[in-house]
Amino acid sequence: MTESTIRWEKGADNIVTLTLDDPQQSANTMNDRYTKSMHDTVERLEKEKADIAGVIITSAKKTFFAGGDLRDLIKVKPENAQEMADGGKLLKGDLRKLETLGIPVVCALNGTALGGGLEIALSCHRRVALNNPKAQFGLPEVSLGLLPGAGGIVRTVRMLGIQNALMNVLMQGQRMKVDKALKVGIIDEVVDSEEEMIAKAKEFILANPKCQQPWDEKGYKIPGGTPSTPKFAANLPAFPANLRKQLKGANYPAPKNIMAAAVESAQVDVDNAFKIEERYFIDLVTGQVAKNMINAFFFNLQAINGGASRPKDVPKFTAKKVGVLGAGMMGAGIAYVTAMTGSEVVLKDISVENAEKGKDYSRKLLDKAISRGKMTEEKKEQVLSLITATADAKDLEGVDFVIEAVFESTELKHKVFQEIEDVVLPDAVLGSNTSSLPITGLAKGVKKQDNFIGIHFFSPVDKMPLVEIICGKDTSPEVLAKTYDYCLQIRKTPIVVNDARGFFTTRVIGTFANEGIAMLGEGVSAASVEQAAQQAGYPVGTLKLIDEINMGTALKISKAAEDDAKRDGTPPPPHHPAGDVMKKMVEELDRPGKLQGKGFYDYPEGGKAKLWPGLKDAFGDSTEIPMEDMKERMLFIEAMEAVKCFEEGVIESVADANIGSIFGIGFPGWTGGVIQYINQYEGGLKGFVTRAQELAAKYGDRFNPPALLVEKAEKGEIFE
Ligand code: NAI
Repeated sequence: MTESTIRWEKGADNIVTLTLDDPQQSANTMNDRYTKSMHDTVERLEKEKADIAGVIITSAKKTFFAGGDLRDLIKVKPENAQEMADGGKLLKGDLRKLETLGIPVVCALNGTALGGGLEIALSCHRRVALNNPKAQFGLPEVSLGLLPGAGGIVRTVRMLGIQNALMNVLMQGQRMKVDKALKVGIIDEVVDSEEEMIAKAKEFILANPKCQQPWDEKGYKIPGGTPSTPKFAANLPAFPANLRKQLKGANYPAPKNIMAAAVESAQVDVDNAFKIEERYFIDLVTGQVAKNMINAFFFNLQAINGGASRPKDVPKFTAKKVGVLGAGMMGAGIAYVTAMTGSEVVLKDISVENAEKGKDYSRKLLDKAISRGKMTEEKKEQVLSLITATADAKDLEGVDFVIEAVFESTELKHKVFQEIEDVVLPDAVLGSNTSSLPITGLAKGVKKQDNFIGIHFFSPVDKMPLVEIICGKDTSPEVLAKTYDYCLQIRKTPIVVNDARGFFTTRVIGTFANEGIAMLGEGVSAASVEQAAQQAGYPVGTLKLIDEINMGTALKISKAAEDDAKRDGTPPPPHHPAGDVMKKMVEELDRPGKLQGKGFYDYPEGGKAKLWPGLKDAFGDSTEIPMEDMKERMLFIEAMEAVKCFEEGVIESVADANIGSIFGIGFPGWTGGVIQYINQYEGGLKGFVTRAQELAAKYGDRFNPPALLVEKAEKGEIFE
């Protein structure tokens, strides 16, 4: 017999405490043993309930219960969906029995309860939580393309009302701290100690000897109404429009299914409501999007943050004193994230005033955090005291990790490294945050080229989770390992790529920007171009993105690539129609981008950016391209550029490519990343190649699939 994952203890007061404590794992997660233990436990409660005053469910682990086992979920196919659903039904049935035993059941939440964990809690009659600042509560299934399928929709809708449940819990999968969870209403009470938690649970049991859920009481009505109550019905037509707005027009199945399940299940009794929830859950779990998202947001991320691309056999490194050269937008952000995680930072610029301005950026972010109740004055002072603003290279003495973030110029970068190379520790990492200059060339400016590496952050540094690490020709494995460790230290996700102009991310996103601009040049209306990107699931439209980057900068980067080719005697980069559009925008129309307040968009002071009406006269707007073609032109061109990066050895890991594309450059999350998009395309790689050839015939040679892709398609392989 397998050991139970639930401990049963009955006290003299006839209260049964069920302690969730899987003996085989460090955390409680839903698996077959849990479903079985839960079933046995509920059967025993049912048998013995005449002698039981009430039940307390708690956990012996640090967290209460973490959710489902994604390894099982990702394997579900239409053929075995019913089997999985039956397992789910068993659990759902047991949770339903638990809430209808006729005796009070209280959940004592000692820590995090997410997904299935919160669903257990929701089936109890009361939730008392420990005031644990690390604990998180929520139903994050939507972020993996799923929905909470063990009654999570049915119960939150009944507890909070349809609108509140959708907006505050279900549609965005918010992970809430204890105060927020209390405010939203998914927990009932917060206490300061474990003893108090149990005492409060017992108090509730004694005060409510015959307990049932509000929705099992006669005459119960869902707060805020249902589609059959007139007031709610009047608001219902706005639901799909709000959903579209929230999803920016993108076609994600999970939020749509969640909304449909919530609205439909609110109109029937609880048992039928479960059936509706289950139907929508099976639809998602057997579909491709959930698999893509689980793959990227769980398995790929776990592999990367677990050190998959870090050289083994190098001892773990902790950066103690970090030198940041250049206190502009990027340098200031890097100083902030480094000091926030407890390392000393020396922030150097050409003048102390500039450096202090960079330090002020941290002050502003910390003040903002204080105003939101997320930071204390004491911690703020502690973080600020770690940052030394200076113009003096000598202050970099003792630095073990350098990150340069001065203007994008090889000469200047060489100069600032030379100033500090002999001051910092002899084995200090010399990192550059360049966004486009080849690392091997930059390394030529220092004596110890094996200590040199690219460490490419994304803006704004405090918000963007990705860092792209770029190895130059001579970068040593120790320096790569140290850089990897530093990224994890500052809680970022590092991907590792090899040196090339634009590395991986800048190169891939460049093709997306160019494709949108090319469509504009073909006479497609600017609004349609932006809409295509949004419908494909990109966070921003192409034209807005290029305004941010600035067309002057983009033209300079392509000019530099042409100069490189001339110098190296390699073929020049092929002519791209986007270049002509950008030249016209910059040279004829004097509209280079957001910085100047005028690009593809107008940027009125204090107002909202609006597409510039003059685009119609400049490029026309009468060309019509099917929406599907527009979306796929953007997705395909990026995916194929990623394949070229594999061909050229710029990137070697599929997980790095997928995660880099989603978290660094906004490739749509539902795809599972730029390579997963190809792997799962309808018809597999063969289907992808055929569609690429079709796009090439219609829109230009740049859509011809790269040789590596064709070869893999012919062999029936995928990218692994
Ligand atoms: P920025 O113009 O905001 O800041 C550059 C700073 O370097 C200025 O404060 C300037 O005074 C300082 N500086 C110039 N000469 C110096 C010297 N000799 N010693 C010390 N400091 C000096 O530029 P930003 O945007 O922060 O970019 C910096 C680097 O990061 C560039 O290489 C850029 O390509 C790269 N990058 C920029 C991203 C962005 O979104 N802005 C994203 C990723 C990388």
